[in-house]
Amino acid sequence: MKEGVEISYILNTEARKRAPSGSLTEPFSLSVAESVRRFHQSFPQYDPTPLVTFTNRARNLKVANIWIKDESHRFGLNAFKVLGASYAIACVIGGKLGIPEADLSFHIFNSDPIREKLTGTTFVTATDGNHGRAVAWAAQKLGVNAVVYMPQGSSRARFEAIKQYGAQTEIIKGNYDDAVHWAAEQAQKNDWILVQDTAWEGYEEIPTRIIQGYLTLLHEALEQLGGKIPTHVFVQCGVGSLAAAMQASIVELFGPNRPISVVVEPERASCFYESMSINDGNLHKISGDLNTIMAGLACGEPGLLAWKILYSYADVFVTCSDSVAIKGMRILANPLAGDGKVVSGESGAVTTGLLACLVGDARYRKSAEALKITQESKILLISTEGDTDPDMYQKIVSGNAD
Ligand SMILES: Cc1ncc(COP(=O)(O)O)c(C=O)c1O
Repeated sequence: MKEGVEISYILNTEARKRAPSGSLTEPFSLSVAESVRRFHQSFPQYDPTPLVTFTNRARNLKVANIWIKDESHRFGLNAFKVLGASYAIACVIGGKLGIPEADLSFHIFNSDPIREKLTGTTFVTATDGNHGRAVAWAAQKLGVNAVVYMPQGSSRARFEAIKQYGAQTEIIKGNYDDAVHWAAEQAQKNDWILVQDTAWEGYEEIPTRIIQGYLTLLHEALEQLGGKIPTHVFVQCGVGSLAAAMQASIVELFGPNRPISVVVEPERASCFYESMSINDGNLHKISGDLNTIMAGLACGEPGLLAWKILYSYADVFVTCSDSVAIKGMRILANPLAGDGKVVSGESGAVTTGLLACLVGDARYRKSAEALKITQESKILLISTEGDTDPDMYQKIVSGNAD
């Protein structure tokens, strides 16, 4: 870890040399994505989130175009996470009741006989905010119980946002990874079902469903692009499930002609970057308090499945200091005339801040060249959350936090 350096990167030079291995990417194929999207479309709250074009900012930064998928509008929940949690919970329930995945729909779960069969079912998870809120929401909608554990230091606003959906919510001692272990233990002890967005040896089925759930986001974006293919996709990385969904899907869809993928972590929670720099093919954990304002990305243990996919195919691993996220939040909150505004929280905005540093700051000219960013580049960014901590958001965008 290079403390105090705004941006560090590692190129994964082997990624383009590897032939796609079906077993890693096939679970995230176009046909799976279509079936998952049908499930999401069955919710009355479903609407594709906006794809905002930053034409003038792109001109200003001397790239061909910038698109931002604005996940603050997802199901009224202010973050993309519900795509994974809702699909995974539905798959588990479907499995219990013998409903095939392709037939899963909100309407099935909304019927009294099904709800009766689910009485007493409890899902449990650990979260730094967004995933837990998504699990609590989905559990409430599907008529089951939820228990959510959060790490020490979790924001009050994010805690309350989970509790409002009726979940038993608790802040435990320890960091995010400790909360995950605690949730797994409680699941075993109480016969609850663990819905965690990260995989480890022996726990891969539910994380796979969660990653599949995230496919809807990319497939909506590609549809909204109307056939234009980005040259680059920048994606935030906590336990890596979102980045893995994007990566596996672009390998499936575009093979060797896929966009360049840039996986972005906070400098103090950079477990994928560290694993990549050790480069022995294995994932490596980092510990400590993982102190960053990017709460959604504050994870020290890479998800096993995500690691396998990203190690195999992701082109670049980047770490950013908190100042990069702050820069991104302010850019998105203050668009140039003619561009849309995006309300984006700390984890949501870091990729925008990264792009602005790479192409707008002469110190990073060499890094931009290494990432093959030129005047022809068309870059897809995902603003993965809105103002999930509204006080912090206001403080940062109004310039009262550094
Ligand atoms: C807002 C936000 N962005 C990105 C991520 C990263 O997703 P993942 O943990 O799947 O890497 C998270 C995870 O919680 C998040 O909350």
